[in-house]
Amino acid sequence: MTKRSLRTLTGVVAIGALALTACGGARSGDSGDGGDASGGDGETFTLKFSHVTTDSTPKGTAAIWFEEELEKRTDGRIDVEVYSNSSLYGDKDEMQAVQQNSVQMLAPASAKFTTVAPALQVLDLPFLFDTPDDIPSVAAPDTEVGKAIFANPDLEDKNMKVLGLWDSGMKQIHSNNLTQKPADMEGKKYRIQPSDVLKSQIEAWGGSAEAIAFAEVYSALQQGVIDGGENTYSNIESQKMHTVQSNIAESNHGYIGYILVVNTEFFDSLPEDLQEILVTTAEEASTYNRDNVVALNQESKETIEADGTSEINVWTDEERQAFKDVVVPSIYEQYRDVIGDEIIDELLAAQE
Ligand code: SIN
Repeated sequence: MTKRSLRTLTGVVAIGALALTACGGARSGDSGDGGDASGGDGETFTLKFSHVTTDSTPKGTAAIWFEEELEKRTDGRIDVEVYSNSSLYGDKDEMQAVQQNSVQMLAPASAKFTTVAPALQVLDLPFLFDTPDDIPSVAAPDTEVGKAIFANPDLEDKNMKVLGLWDSGMKQIHSNNLTQKPADMEGKKYRIQPSDVLKSQIEAWGGSAEAIAFAEVYSALQQGVIDGGENTYSNIESQKMHTVQSNIAESNHGYIGYILVVNTEFFDSLPEDLQEILVTTAEEASTYNRDNVVALNQESKETIEADGTSEINVWTDEERQAFKDVVVPSIYEQYRDVIGDEIIDELLAAQE
């Protein structure tokens, strides 16, 4: 059953209580979280899917599509509960929650896996893609990059099964000054996601970097704790970052990709037919996400333009090249040991 409207009404206190009691993945009759306690064929399962962006974003819309489709295709035998916008777990606790099966599905950005699966930082490498059109081929499951995502031993060791790669899109640099050359970043502090690659990238351009949870970025910008950051148009607009920043450089210098994971204990507890439906629906949700990501970012860009609080400057090819020369191949080489020789070689060969 879709519980979004009910959850919207429950407010922060009730959601906090949910977080404390979430044991998730419940079968019918377990711990009061499931449906009818009929057992056998009538057994039902609750799948909590927590994420940090709003419902309007490429991740939010795909999560809702997944919820509706999975419930329909399983005749309600899997009840999906989507908790968006860090309302159940946020950046600081979601990774632990999925490993403990307190929540069954997540779709964190690759950078959020840095401590549990460091090779996933491959997706944080600057200038990995020139346009979003390159993503499916560069990260196809049979490429070295794809293998790092879809057959990642660190994720398997930590109770996570990968079900897909979703996109948030290409990142832009937001700030309170024009950013047209690396020197424009000197002396300024940028919010990053918790990835060593991203820290090195900002520092190479002359800025300093601070990892801050996604839900806290707006207030950190508003209070001047940081001068800027890097994010996709949909994330900038939906978190209202553009209302407290005067400039956005349309840089397309990096990518935010989401690794869709399910807790393996939960997955293994499902009957085989439900496992198959779950895998197929997740694959189709990945297609749904990719089919919509460009349009959703474009809509957010237009909203930002209409709001008029932040001026957008598109990098010229020369400006983009100047930023690229500072970090490619140097950052790729710097993280060769973490990401793996085969992947770095494949990526550098593709850049030639
Ligand atoms: C997300 O898109 O899930 C959040 C990315 C961020 O932390 O900037």
